Amino acid sequence: MTRTIAKDTVSKSGETVKLNGWVHARRDMGKVTFLDLRDRSGLIQVVLVPSCLDEASKDLVKDIRPEFVLEIEGEVKDRDEKTINDNIETGKIEVLANTVVIQNPAKTPPFEIDKDTSVVNEEVRMKYRYLDLRSERMQKNMRLRYNVNRIMREFLHEEGFTEIETPLLTKGTPEGAREYIVPSRLHPGQFYVLPQSPQQFKQLSMVAGFERYFQFARCLRDEDQRGDRQPEFTQCDLEMSFVTREDVMDLVSRLMEKVVKEATPEKKIAQVPFPILTYAEAMEKYGSDKPDLRKDKNDPNEIAFCWIVDFPMFETLEDGTLQAMHHPFCSIHPEDKEKFMKGEDIMNIRANAYDLACNGYEIWGGSIRIHERDVQNRVFELLGLDSELIQSKFGHMLEAFEYGAPPHGGIASGQDRVVMVLANEPNIREVIPYPKDGNAKDHMMDAPSELPDKALREANIQIRK
Ligand code: AMO
Repeated sequence: MTRTIAKDTVSKSGETVKLNGWVHARRDMGKVTFLDLRDRSGLIQVVLVPSCLDEASKDLVKDIRPEFVLEIEGEVKDRDEKTINDNIETGKIEVLANTVVIQNPAKTPPFEIDKDTSVVNEEVRMKYRYLDLRSERMQKNMRLRYNVNRIMREFLHEEGFTEIETPLLTKGTPEGAREYIVPSRLHPGQFYVLPQSPQQFKQLSMVAGFERYFQFARCLRDEDQRGDRQPEFTQCDLEMSFVTREDVMDLVSRLMEKVVKEATPEKKIAQVPFPILTYAEAMEKYGSDKPDLRKDKNDPNEIAFCWIVDFPMFETLEDGTLQAMHHPFCSIHPEDKEKFMKGEDIMNIRANAYDLACNGYEIWGGSIRIHERDVQNRVFELLGLDSELIQSKFGHMLEAFEYGAPPHGGIASGQDRVVMVLANEPNIREVIPYPKDGNAKDHMMDAPSELPDKALREANIQIRK
């Protein structure tokens, strides 16, 4: 007999079905035992009555406990009016079992899976993430994440984008964070750097003539953790040729409207078109470059987007060094170009950069880029890089700009943040299947961990004591 999933039993009253799943709960009522069986589609009630079970199954019933994996065959029956359960999709029927097979027993889980696991000790939850993920809320969050990704991918496909995969073993690209490095076995003393974003590759893909690129890109940044920051996170990363910033902002506005409408139809967007504030206005009015513009912050279904534009091109770090606020590939606001070329009033030069904020989080960020060699070189010079360093770090970009680089611009989401906001979760860990903890540790895999001497030797690594 082929398997039937829980939700499909609803239309099979009177038929015999085979179910597979996990025991969600067990209730004993005298001789009769009720099981809530859980599968990917939800819960179904199974009734175990000794007189209906075959001999082998009868003996097993006493052993069955939560999280056991069972195979059950039985008849789908309509429930009495009085026992209908409106809380579950299959609440109008139940399955009266004839045979029960224990496919695998289970130890008692370290926390209750049928309750909200967000109150469970973080380290325990992370160590047993595969059990945490069984809980209803986490299943819902992961499916929401998948749906959001799917809607975005379909939208971008319709808009003529090509999904292009870019390497993880590469060279540093400046996004402001510390980099993860990977030693090369074949080239002793040399290192790959894991990408903080695919920034350079997507720009080079514009030089390559794709015009519209996107990718669900894993980005790696060795920075201090926060609720909305992980060392490894995902961007919906895109780049377009021959566009203005209005084109990019319009595309992402339409994309986010579609995502909200289709993935979370219960949500209402506070204002469409999304308001646009300059960085200066946002800082003056709200003291933040990611203001929360919800009218009622207690309404879980209100969602307020707003664009922030005209960011400063440069900022100074605590040690006084000049850094690009977004990254050094942003083009200069047309009104500030003269000052820029003269190198005057540097701190007031604006970049052609834009962020999308939502409910107080920065969820997308991008810019129109520089596509001319001399302008790009000037930014590097202003950042204090000498020509040798420019050449060794970014020579390939400058060279590419000499082979017919089209004007281009793009943007990237913090995909984890997008899903976090839509799921009303306070932390991106709740929407990442296998996240790291606040100290960048993976308790399930026990990473990072030490390596045997042989592995270190092959990678040409000597540990400093
Ligand atoms: P940026 O650095 O602004 O831009 O990143 C884009 C978006 O990624 C999210 N984000 C993060 N999410 C989780 N954990 C992190 N550590 C983290 N860091 C950033 C934010 C942010 O808005 N290459 C450019 C994009 C471009 O210019 O097109 C970039 O990476 O939501």
